[in-house]
Amino acid sequence: MRKSVVAGNWKMNLLTEDARDLALGLGPSNDLDGNVEVILCPTFTTLWAVRDALNGQPGIALGGQNCYHKESGAFTGEISPQMLLDVGCEWVIIGHSERRQYFNESDEFLNEKVHFALGAGLKVMFCIGETLEEREKGQMNEVLVRQIEGGLAGIGDKQFDNIVVAYEPVWAIGTGVTASPEQAQDAHAFVRGVVSNTFGETIANALRIQYGGSVKPNNAQELMSQPDVDGALVGGAALDAEGFAAIVKHAG
Ligand code: PGA
Repeated sequence: MRKSVVAGNWKMNLLTEDARDLALGLGPSNDLDGNVEVILCPTFTTLWAVRDALNGQPGIALGGQNCYHKESGAFTGEISPQMLLDVGCEWVIIGHSERRQYFNESDEFLNEKVHFALGAGLKVMFCIGETLEEREKGQMNEVLVRQIEGGLAGIGDKQFDNIVVAYEPVWAIGTGVTASPEQAQDAHAFVRGVVSNTFGETIANALRIQYGGSVKPNNAQELMSQPDVDGALVGGAALDAEGFAAIVKHAG
C-alpha cells in the first residue's frame, strides 16, 4: 500500500504575513490521521515564517520549490539543498514545468540537481509532464520516457525511497482544465511502466506518483481514487487553507 502524498506548491505567491496565516490556518483544519503525507512548499523568503507557524506540527513537512546543485559559492541568486535543510525543509521540487519552460532547465541539468539534492539529504518531488502540443502530436509517451530516463538517470535503488514523481500535464497547470480521471490513470500507469522497465518492478510498485494540474477540492477525490494516483501536487488550490485541507482529506 503506497501512502498518499499531497503537496502544496505556493509558487511565487504570498508575502510573509499571508504565508504565516495560511500555515496557521492549515494546522487545526487538517484532520491528519497519518494516512496522508503533507508537504508545504512556500517561497524561499517565507520558509522561516511558515516553519515557525507550523511549530513542529507532526504530519506537515516543508519543501523548497527549487535548488541548485552546489553546496555554496559564487552562484548569485541560487539556493543550495544544504540551505533548504538548514531552514527546516525535508523536500524539494525539481523539474517543475515552469522551471523547464521559463528557465530552460534540461533533463541533464535536472538530473544533476536530483543527484545533488538526494546526496545532501533532501527528498525529491520530481515533476514530469507533456505540453498540449506534444499530446496532440501523439508525443506524450516519448516525452515522458525522455523525462524519466533523463531526469532520473543513475539513481540507485535505495534512493528511490526518497523520490516521489509528480505527473503534471502542462496543459492542466493553472488552466482550470484538469486531466480526466481516466487520462490521469492512463498516464500514471504508463509512467509506472516506464519506471518498471528502467529501474525494475519493485521500485515501480513502491514509487508514489502524484497528479498535478488544476487539482481542486471538487475533483481531487476522483483523481486520487485511481489505482496509480498516489496523491497530488497542488498549485492554486493550495493557497486556500480550507480547500487544501479538503484535498488532503480526499487523499486519506
Ligand atoms: P495548479 O498547479 O494546481 O495551479 O494547476 C499545479 C502545479 O503547478 O504544481
